[in-house]
Amino acid sequence: MCRIVNFNINGCNYKLPIVGGTYYEKAINISKLRENTGFITFDPGFKNTGIVKSSISFIDGEKGILLYRGYPIEQIIKKCSFIETSYLLLNGELPNTAQLKSFSERIKEFNSINKDIHQILDKSPVFYHPMEMLSSLTCILTAFITKKDGLKEKDMYIHLLAKLPILAALTYRKKIGLPPSTSDKNLYYTSNILKMFFSVPKKYYKNDPIITDALDKLLILHADHEQNCSTTTVRLLGSAHTGLFASVSAGISALWGRLHGGANQAVIEMLENILKCGGNIRKWVERAKNKKDPFRLMGFGHRIYKNFDPRAKIVKEVAENIISELEIDDPILELAKELEEIAIQDPYFMEKKLYPNIDFYSGIIYQAIGIPKEMFTVMFALGRLPGWMAHWKEVRLNREPIGRPRQIYIGYKKRNID
Ligand code: SDX
Repeated sequence: MCRIVNFNINGCNYKLPIVGGTYYEKAINISKLRENTGFITFDPGFKNTGIVKSSISFIDGEKGILLYRGYPIEQIIKKCSFIETSYLLLNGELPNTAQLKSFSERIKEFNSINKDIHQILDKSPVFYHPMEMLSSLTCILTAFITKKDGLKEKDMYIHLLAKLPILAALTYRKKIGLPPSTSDKNLYYTSNILKMFFSVPKKYYKNDPIITDALDKLLILHADHEQNCSTTTVRLLGSAHTGLFASVSAGISALWGRLHGGANQAVIEMLENILKCGGNIRKWVERAKNKKDPFRLMGFGHRIYKNFDPRAKIVKEVAENIISELEIDDPILELAKELEEIAIQDPYFMEKKLYPNIDFYSGIIYQAIGIPKEMFTVMFALGRLPGWMAHWKEVRLNREPIGRPRQIYIGYKKRNID
């Protein structure tokens, strides 16, 4: 592959180096572009712009490939737990038995929350959206990590892996009027999440392995995904040397957007509305194609995947399994499958390469588990946490410069106040 690119601007010839990655991804390194030519590049939404060299995950959008530290998502989902996947993303290699045991035990050491956090929640209005509460509480965790804790950098990741599910469960239970629940050291990570969410006072909580397995798979599928909006947000804050907890708090807020992680809640609301309006799928597909109509098919389309989202295929299988294993009669799943069938054969969707993304079926599983719609994106955040932290760690270890893009100014020329 050639190592430089030659180009001409206004009669002057320039050369810029080409950088390449493990696969065929190639980029023109423009770090000296402005210095040499006076030009910058312009790329709203960074659709053609690489901002970093990362070794954490890789997506091939044309072939529907997703690798976590080189391992295909299809193998990870079959052979690893979410905790093993978290270790892999954070440390670069899968843990051996001793490493996994120590990692899991260390997480359990941080399985409580400062009582002041409970008081903050008690004083909060109950009409909050769980995502705004989770983001706020995650940021304020910083206040409780005083220097005297001597929290070493490597423990910060473990600390947050332990705390975020506790905050999520507290946020959920406060909203539905249940008292706080406690974390159970004897349970596996994901079983403990379910217990903290759903245990009822004075009643023994029995974990259902079918539900634990389905949630563990969902957490794995959400664990990392290159430079999506929320991960790039976390990286940007890391480049400013903002603390880990505050950076993840910003990632949670970015994820909440309905075009991003908030789509899983929007998909179920869309499907329920279609059902309520008589289930005429073709009418809604036509609306989604109409530029004058703001309606979009939520859970469809992706910036990178232009063939299929490998995660969506797996989520669909997990959804079908849990619905049949729990013997749930779910008209929403049937409607989703019918909608997918119609949309993917529609010329508009085929031409624009719009396929179901991870959010299209995930809400069906959350609902089957008993998680309410408002908590769907919180579950996405619990899955994405190891990925966010791995990227924050990579920014800091690589000593990356603070992220500060340029712009094209189109405002007033200099003028004076009369
Ligand atoms: C996630 O980046 C990641 O990796 C994200 C994520 C992760 O794991 O972090 O995968 C998680 O966020 C998945 C996406 C969840 N969002 C949704 O499901 C919302 C619905 N999807 C769209 O809003 C859209 O497809 C995006 C936001 C996902 C992608 O937007 P792009 O890449 O900016 O594409 P675009 O909006 O420019 O669309 C290109 C064309 C447009 O038509 P034209 O202007 O070219 O005529 O496709 C059309 C769009 O109108 N289009 C849709 C559509 N999505 C795109 N038309 C109808 N329904 C849709 N869902």
